[in-house]
Amino acid sequence: AGTYQHDFIIQETSYTRLCETKKILTVNGQFPGPTIYAEKGDTLIVRVYNKGDYNITLHWHGLAQPRNPWSDGPEYITQCPIQPGAKFTYRLLFSEEEGTIWWHAHSDWDRATVHGALIVYPKKGTTFPFPKPDKEIPIILGEWWKANVSQVLADALQNGSDPQISDAYTINGQPGDLYPCSKPSTFIANVEQNKTYLLRLINAAINNELFFSIANHSLTVVAKDASYTKPYSTNLILISPGQTIDALLHTTASFPGRHYIAAKSYSSALGVKFDQTTTTAILQYVNSSNHAAPLLPPLPEYNDTAAATAFETSLRSLASKEHPVSVPQGVDQRLIITVAVNLLTCEPGKTCGGPNGDRLSASLNNISFVTPTTDVLEAYYKNISLVYGTGFPADPPAKYNYTGENLPGVLLFPRRATEVRVVEYNTSLEIVFQGTNLLAGENHPMHLHGFSFYVVGRGFGNFDEEKDPLSYNLVDPPYENTVGVPKNGWAALRFRATNPGVWFMHCHLDRHASWGMETVLIVKDGEASEAKLLPPPPDMPPC
Ligand code: C2O
Ligand code: CU
Repeated sequence: AGTYQHDFIIQETSYTRLCETKKILTVNGQFPGPTIYAEKGDTLIVRVYNKGDYNITLHWHGLAQPRNPWSDGPEYITQCPIQPGAKFTYRLLFSEEEGTIWWHAHSDWDRATVHGALIVYPKKGTTFPFPKPDKEIPIILGEWWKANVSQVLADALQNGSDPQISDAYTINGQPGDLYPCSKPSTFIANVEQNKTYLLRLINAAINNELFFSIANHSLTVVAKDASYTKPYSTNLILISPGQTIDALLHTTASFPGRHYIAAKSYSSALGVKFDQTTTTAILQYVNSSNHAAPLLPPLPEYNDTAAATAFETSLRSLASKEHPVSVPQGVDQRLIITVAVNLLTCEPGKTCGGPNGDRLSASLNNISFVTPTTDVLEAYYKNISLVYGTGFPADPPAKYNYTGENLPGVLLFPRRATEVRVVEYNTSLEIVFQGTNLLAGENHPMHLHGFSFYVVGRGFGNFDEEKDPLSYNLVDPPYENTVGVPKNGWAALRFRATNPGVWFMHCHLDRHASWGMETVLIVKDGEASEAKLLPPPPDMPPC
């Protein structure tokens, strides 16, 4: 293990997509941004210079950052933004992760173009729990707007409406053959026959879960969210924003030539507009005499919840001797958190763009998170009052049939507040996310900073506190940082709160997060000195 340094220059760079050129925010002029490699146990120092025109912060998604929320990145949660002209140095501590994670901007929707892969190799002297691949292929899925993305967000918040949908999905920054003006730059993965490639898949899209498949090839999933899984063979992957998947691809001799790698939206919400297009890249066998045009793999219908669920419920932790699981068998505290899309009343005399002329909003336990103007971590560390409240409830505001029809109208309008949940160090915590049918039932990829967690149960309908825990998987549940909470269903996670700090928790569909589907978990310091928050670095940006 060692300490290595990288420089990230945030700058505006011109890129041409879909026949039009525009300036986008990039790191070092690259889109997608640079791939960063590390070894388990390393420390990386990333010096960020903001030479762009917007406030920005960076987040290292999936990195637990033990005791070090100072470098975690979410804007106004653990730091104030790096302003144009300013700089900040992030310290990345690689502790338990192994596999693919990623980094992205965590201020407004800057992450649309400011993101990249973070690849963590096993420690020296240890190896992958599968045969060493011949080569690796990072595959970053994204979304492209012809419009300026900050304007798309600003307009949506101004109108209270659904944001304008994107104009293309992308693979490694390229829309692919099926879009105008895109064919010459389609991403091509050159492969040889009878080899094994490790695909490092990341969904960096802003608002869409994606189905992913490669024509005439099956994939073997070996890790999710930088935690190894039992090998799982499939033709179809569902990957939600925030999630990462490592999958092996064997290039079988029976199918030389060219094959489409493709992704399209899985959109579970009724009546919500989304980008209906398909992005493609090409898997190309070198030295093949077969020059036939590539074909698309079969992909499910956009609303195929059965296909999405089949994939999401198939993954199991590897749970081997070298990679054991430590699922908390007992729980000190259970939080049940409803996840909902809601309304807010429009300003008097105005008509907003949501249903009934109201604004769209979103909530957790019927609290729509209001982002403070001083960051929560600083307020916590320095005991600054009035920045946040500690009243985030352990239960929904009322017992009701969350996933039924005709939900109580009062729940449509959440309370707007900055409420966090505080837990003692080393609490064995269970969080049950309960999807609701308010406005529109929908899958929500819920993400927690500072931790990975065991997904011990999932189901449709309402969580039953008596019965459902009896069927939990406490043996080999997948260990994730972003869990798909099924449409009109629930997901249960367990972990031990051994990482002191201030940790953001939110839906990774950015439109929902921007509407308030967020809260913060504060884990207090423990007694031992290794159980306490590290001191802040001297260069924390001021607000
Ligand atoms: Cu991938 Cu809070 O983020
Ligand atoms: Cu959501």
